[in-house]
Amino acid sequence: MGYRILETADIPAYLRERGHWDGSDDIGVREVSDGNLNRVFVASDSAGTRTLAVKQALPWVRVAGPSWPLSPDRSDAEARAYEQLARVAPGTIPAIHGYDPENHALVMEDLSDLRVLRTALNEGAAYGPDTSRRIGELVAQLSFATSDFGLDSAGRKALIAASANPELCKITEDVVLSEPYTEHEHNHWLPELDDLAAEFRADTRLRTEVADLRHTFMTGAQALLHGDLHTGSIMVGEREGAPVVRVFDPEFSFVGPIGFDLGLYWANALVSAERARALGTASDHADQLRVSWEAFENEFRRLWPTRVDTFFDDAYLDRFLRRVWTESLGFAGTELVRRIIGFAHLTDLTTLPNPAPASRRALLLGRELILHRTELTNARAVRSLAESLV
Ligand SMILES: Nc1ncnc2c1ncn2[C@@H]1O[C@H](COP(=O)(O)OP(=O)(O)O)[C@@H](O)[C@H]1O
Ligand SMILES: [Mg+2]
Repeated sequence: MGYRILETADIPAYLRERGHWDGSDDIGVREVSDGNLNRVFVASDSAGTRTLAVKQALPWVRVAGPSWPLSPDRSDAEARAYEQLARVAPGTIPAIHGYDPENHALVMEDLSDLRVLRTALNEGAAYGPDTSRRIGELVAQLSFATSDFGLDSAGRKALIAASANPELCKITEDVVLSEPYTEHEHNHWLPELDDLAAEFRADTRLRTEVADLRHTFMTGAQALLHGDLHTGSIMVGEREGAPVVRVFDPEFSFVGPIGFDLGLYWANALVSAERARALGTASDHADQLRVSWEAFENEFRRLWPTRVDTFFDDAYLDRFLRRVWTESLGFAGTELVRRIIGFAHLTDLTTLPNPAPASRRALLLGRELILHRTELTNARAVRSLAESLV
């Protein structure tokens, strides 16, 4: 039948046709898309006891429409990433019920009973003890399993070849890792930040450090990444009294530098801390970089004895983790910068009554992380730096 774009009204028949829904009960469908790229629908029966989510990639960027074409093949990257995640961390992703490559559609567990982490934080929630710990562990589990420590050499080469995601990598290379440091029509910022935006574009030392991180992103094929691990790609909540953390939306997945996943999470946590500080509601936000790093490091060290290639010795592990730490800080810096003077901004800052002071601090922090990532050797140093900025 070929690729067809699904509308809300098409979802019941689609779910039946694909064998996801039997019986003749009424299926109610609502569209819940709020990301930039794709469409998501939630289907439920009248009693609300059976629910499913359907995510479809369109041949363009959803918020831009046909004027910004983008291959719907990105859904293949998302499905592949979920396959790997399901192997290593099945409890931390939505259950995947099926992938339809022809229609670029994934059918998965409905997570509507949970809340997007960014939304919860913006409304004043704390992270709590589980979220960043679980994220750090997940990054360790996915990256160890898909690195040369978890897979043999031939398996790794096959994974790298199968996981190429050129169009979405190019978006990151442009939007995150170059445009904010150049004159580009995508860039916009608050008028109060005119001085810094100009300074950043003129700063040749900063540009060289970003070039270094950009090249690491392009060449550092360490492990399969989520690729877009910000607080809008995480859902949190409770089920049966127990805390629940679910990571979703891995369509930017490819084999790249592990620090890119940690760095994106850190930048978004740091921005949430700036918001909380601006509102005077700061609770545990500023501690999340430490919590997620410690969980990542502990889990990676726990897995290390199972590595497939013991030529990599314990001293190398220390060196490797140090490098991941440093690169994570650098990528966190680039994510901070691009979210303030680049293309897509964050509601954590834009919905503040007076967004300029917090945005300014986050922007300055981003520059410091990029420039001084090798000197900032632990989470305490990063926290002191964040607190010292005015
Ligand atoms: N499995 C799901 N269950 C319920 N809601 C979902 C599910 N997946 C996504 N959503 C909702 O749809 C939104 C967009 O999904 P996302 O995968 O982030 O799309 P995009 O690729 O466009 O960013 C999410 O922010 C969330 O609100
Ligand atoms: Mg998304």
